[in-house]
Amino acid sequence: MSQTWWRGAAIYQVYLRSFADGNGDGIGDLAGLRSRLPYLKDLGIDAIWLNPWYPSPMADGGYDVADYRGIEPVFGTLAEAETFIQEAHELDIKVIIDVVPNHSSTASAWFQEALTDREARDRFWFRDEPNDWQSIFGGPAWTQVADGQWYLHLFAPEQPDFNWDNPAVHREFEDVLRFWFERGVDGFRIDSAALLFKSDTSYEDLDEVHEVYRRWREVADEYGDRVLIGEVWLPDQERFTRYLRPDELHTAFNFDFLACPWEPAELRRVIDLTLTTHAPVGAPPTWVLSNHDVTRPVTRYGRADTTFAHGGRLHGMPSDPELGHRRARAAALLAMALPGSVYVYQGEELGLPEVEDLPDEQRQDPMYHRSGGTNRGRDGCRVPLPWAGDEPPFGFGSGEAPTWLPQPESWRKVTAEAQSADLGSMLNLYRTALAHRRDLLGDGTLTWLTMGPDVLAFTRESGLTCVSNLGTAPVPLPPGRVLLTSGPLEDGALPSDTTVWLTSLA
Ligand code: NOJ
Ligand code: CA
Repeated sequence: MSQTWWRGAAIYQVYLRSFADGNGDGIGDLAGLRSRLPYLKDLGIDAIWLNPWYPSPMADGGYDVADYRGIEPVFGTLAEAETFIQEAHELDIKVIIDVVPNHSSTASAWFQEALTDREARDRFWFRDEPNDWQSIFGGPAWTQVADGQWYLHLFAPEQPDFNWDNPAVHREFEDVLRFWFERGVDGFRIDSAALLFKSDTSYEDLDEVHEVYRRWREVADEYGDRVLIGEVWLPDQERFTRYLRPDELHTAFNFDFLACPWEPAELRRVIDLTLTTHAPVGAPPTWVLSNHDVTRPVTRYGRADTTFAHGGRLHGMPSDPELGHRRARAAALLAMALPGSVYVYQGEELGLPEVEDLPDEQRQDPMYHRSGGTNRGRDGCRVPLPWAGDEPPFGFGSGEAPTWLPQPESWRKVTAEAQSADLGSMLNLYRTALAHRRDLLGDGTLTWLTMGPDVLAFTRESGLTCVSNLGTAPVPLPPGRVLLTSGPLEDGALPSDTTVWLTSLA
């Protein structure tokens, strides 16, 4: 792979707890992931991004990190993580891990020290009086400790925010980056990358944050061919692309695309905006349809309202599974054809739906608990994957212990095994599309074709043309040889909610 492999990569997101369980305790782990590396190779991805694998009390699925230089014992050991990195590299798969610089865990050594020693509090935000900030998960953003002071946590109380005005915090994270670069990781996904600094009135997107990423870029560059990916949710595109200046982060997730409704004008607007704002900084766009925080696409696209918003999540809004599936297939081919890198969140390639009927007492997401249940949270997109067989745990583990979230019985039809045998399955669509993408798509530019207001159509440098029909009536195909379709053609025309890839006739 080239020095700039990340510019056009297909990156598969592994939510370790729910990917594959190697020791039968009902929780995914490194042994499980290692055993499924051939599946990922076969799928045709270039890199894996793993959600946090660090020691953690799991108050927020591992985003409460107790030790940035270790591996959560439930997942495995540091030695095993190193073996995993090596094995992935042998298959020519890059490894990206999560780093969480905005906040820590109350179980971390630094925070424990701060609790007993007031002198050691400056690495966090301790104050005699809290302000009125609310936690992003609901409820107040401050929690009081035994001696009367309060500490800031923009997320759960178990996730105290670091004080980035303290140079020790800068040194610590540069060292953490080096620790993992030296163990071979190819990059970091930076959690809550726009938060970090706080003023009296704001905790988002303060200018000082850019100095941190300039420094991190220098560190990454020392190791060569490594990538820094920002989780930056900002409504202002100009502010967003500042993070992608040539001496800062390499790429950032495209949340506008992720949250975009399945409507041609809105999609066209978001795609154009993405391309025009990325071009001046020279950073490749990214195309994301789902992740561990958002509603599964087949459920979302089957609803009357196809937007995604964190607030209500439209949980329980009726969804037509056939329609959702059809659109999710069309959306996948669209996303994979666009210039830049693409993300696939585990289970997306199986077309898994959001599990909306989890028993409340089994829900673990702090978003659910801290909102008093008004927000159903993110557990529904984190249910352990179905691999094979006719009953839970569907090959996720050995079945000695129940999976940490229950799997629907109906998933017998969507296991990786069942879908492998079905040429028309979502899994085989992803496999075929990713194989073609490798040769014909990825980094670069596009040229729009005009095919009417309901159709998104463009060609790429390789001559590949992608056409998505979001209207209700079939549309005639442009010239070219059909390479792949997300659904069957109708009398040679492209039906509603279908995408086709064509290659030039020559
Ligand atoms: C974003 C992560 O994707 C999410 O899962 C987490 O809860 C928050 N950041 C806080 O770390
Ligand atoms: Ca396990």
